Amino acid sequence: MSKIILTGDRPTGKLHVGHYVGSLKRRVELQNSGEYDKIFIMIADAQALTDNADNPEKIRQNIIEVALDYLSCGLDPTKSTLFIQSMIPQLTELSFYYMNLVTVSRLQRNPTVKAEILMRNFETSIPVGFFTYPISQAADITAFKATLVPVGEDQLPMIEQTREIVRKFNSVYGEALVEPDVLLPDNKACLRLPGTDGKSKMSKSLNNCIYLSDTPEDVKKKIMGMYTDPDHLRVEDPGKVEGNSVFTYLDAFSKPEHFERYLSDYNCLEELKVHYMRGGLGDVKVKKFLNLVLQEELEPIRLRRKEYEKDIPEVYNILKKGSEAAEKVAAETLADVKRKMKINYFEDMDLINEQAQKYR
Ligand code: TRP
Repeated sequence: MSKIILTGDRPTGKLHVGHYVGSLKRRVELQNSGEYDKIFIMIADAQALTDNADNPEKIRQNIIEVALDYLSCGLDPTKSTLFIQSMIPQLTELSFYYMNLVTVSRLQRNPTVKAEILMRNFETSIPVGFFTYPISQAADITAFKATLVPVGEDQLPMIEQTREIVRKFNSVYGEALVEPDVLLPDNKACLRLPGTDGKSKMSKSLNNCIYLSDTPEDVKKKIMGMYTDPDHLRVEDPGKVEGNSVFTYLDAFSKPEHFERYLSDYNCLEELKVHYMRGGLGDVKVKKFLNLVLQEELEPIRLRRKEYEKDIPEVYNILKKGSEAAEKVAAETLADVKRKMKINYFEDMDLINEQAQKYR
């Protein structure tokens, strides 16, 4: 069986370093591993509209931002198919058939949907499209017969829901769909990078993100103002590493080489942590180190972004080409699905002959 990757992001804002360690970096590694037959990366504009119905302009503006972030991280349109969800009408059609295989109570139990309903104050008036987006996400994944979906931890319930739909479809109509596996980040800090304010998640509305497109000055300013251990008041005080964003970021980003290069008094992160916990290590020193580490990681991304920014029409062209290629694949799957469901009436000669017999 072919090894196929599909994943994507809602274009509701620029991507930040949480997206980067949580999934973008891994995608580029997977892409460059050469182990996958096909890689589809989707800008999920239709899904973004499920909770932004009254603000389509936000989605429209952010498609290019996400595309630029993808390309600047090293996603390569000659190796990965980058496309826009709403350009693939087959996804909507698949969703419509999958809806019959999912119950309302099953959707109500989906932990991610539950959490998002609370977060958006949708309790009393949930848009139907939003409520059913896990079904549309199953269409996204299955349309491309994806075998692997690299995502953040919050997407686990979506993949589980997809697997259930696949099993149900295949058992009711016959094998047509592929059950995907999920691939989560392997480092705990990468699973959910906290905001610069120490809150559990980076989020634009909390204003606690470091964006991939931030200038070096912005990044430095954000790092120097980062949340650490509120009880670590003087350098001599023992500090806490747990729940200290600066150390969580170092867990996610620092490598042994960084110590050699920028902080050679220490061999590794563990030594730095031990010193911090013992007392005598100031926040500023740790933050300056984090700044160097992060700048090194972000610099090539920034440079690539500058290149692509010079030719924005070409970026749209990349998405157009990708969408055309993606549509072909989705169309094949849809045809397959309709054949299995026996709703391919006009190509079903058995059906036509059988009906003709009946009326002879
Ligand atoms: N739900 C994902 C997010 O919020 C975006 C997404 C849409 C997606 N369709 C997908 C991710 C299919 C993986 C596979 O980030």
